[in-house]
Amino acid sequence: MDYVFPVTKTTTPKEKPTNCKSLGFGKYFTDHMFIMDYDEGQGWHDGRIVPYGPISFDPGATTLHYGQMMFEGLKAYRNPEGGLNLFRPDMNAKRLNNTNERMCIPPMDEELFLAAVKAIVKLDADWTPTDPGTSLYIRPFILSPEVSFSVLPAKKYWFIIILCAVGAYYEGNESKLHGSRILVEEKFIRAAIGGTGYAKTAGNYACGMIASIKAHEQGCEEVLWLDSNEHKYVEEVGTSNAFFVIGDKVITPELTGSILPGVTRDSAIQLLRKWGYEVEERRIELKEVFDAIKDGSLKEAWATGTACVISPIGVLNYKGEDYVINNEVVGDISQRLYDSLYGMQTGKLPDEMGNWIVRL
Ligand SMILES: Cc1ncc(COP(=O)(O)O)c(C=O)c1O
Repeated sequence: MDYVFPVTKTTTPKEKPTNCKSLGFGKYFTDHMFIMDYDEGQGWHDGRIVPYGPISFDPGATTLHYGQMMFEGLKAYRNPEGGLNLFRPDMNAKRLNNTNERMCIPPMDEELFLAAVKAIVKLDADWTPTDPGTSLYIRPFILSPEVSFSVLPAKKYWFIIILCAVGAYYEGNESKLHGSRILVEEKFIRAAIGGTGYAKTAGNYACGMIASIKAHEQGCEEVLWLDSNEHKYVEEVGTSNAFFVIGDKVITPELTGSILPGVTRDSAIQLLRKWGYEVEERRIELKEVFDAIKDGSLKEAWATGTACVISPIGVLNYKGEDYVINNEVVGDISQRLYDSLYGMQTGKLPDEMGNWIVRL
């Protein structure tokens, strides 16, 4: 089905950032946004593009109190031909519907989601920065303006997409990865089995902030989350998925329901298997990681996510002790994965899998 969305263009375009070095993450929103309504009985309707600006809420709106909402995150990269590349946006569409199901938000046709993303990105394409590592971050989200204090799913929703010019995750040099310092979080957990860990919803992030603050205070960049039951098994690294190379195997925690199924995680697994690596998706005990560091069989570890693509792990800090991985040197597999994924995303390398890149 062909979707066409009416466009109301801004009459007061903003000045675009000129210094790609200080873009940050969430500072430079573009001129327009996509918005669409949902009403019970009518479904999703009236998708349209309007000037970017504040949205008005009744203070009694249910989302503001009970957090029934969802969001997604993906990026558009400038390709060498001057167009834009999206990376596996169909995966975000699928994850949106998985989150919606968990959060009792009505599903959305995947084609409609993709058409909306493409329409707003095309309109504000000029905002995409060109420096290495920079991109146009795409943030689709759903919330409800319905006024109610009943703890029940709403009958009315808004689907909104905003865009933001964002800076390089690795400052200075696009290919200069570094081993990051990670605090293993002993007390707080991100998500529990049966909860909302596999869904992309605000509450998962709000409850993690306390541990991020602790990590930063202790000179660490991120938190390694453990399982909620025993605090023994590795789950995720901050807002990324975790990978460990032990011996000849690559191991990543299996998706048990408390872990977000990352698009980059899935892409890394597929690429590694294509390259001939054995990848195990299974529970991995923290003790196994530490034992492997001590006996030298843990060769490298990294985190995967849209923001960083690949972020090597240099040190795990647990109960005040540093466990150093690969002398904090970036491993060959981490570097190869980064080069390959980032190369495809930016169109500098051909799409190795044939259908991962959507060109606009
Ligand atoms: C909790 C969490 N885990 C993992 C990821 C990585 O997912 P993706 O690779 O789709 O960005 C994210 C980012 O969206 C996240 O928020």
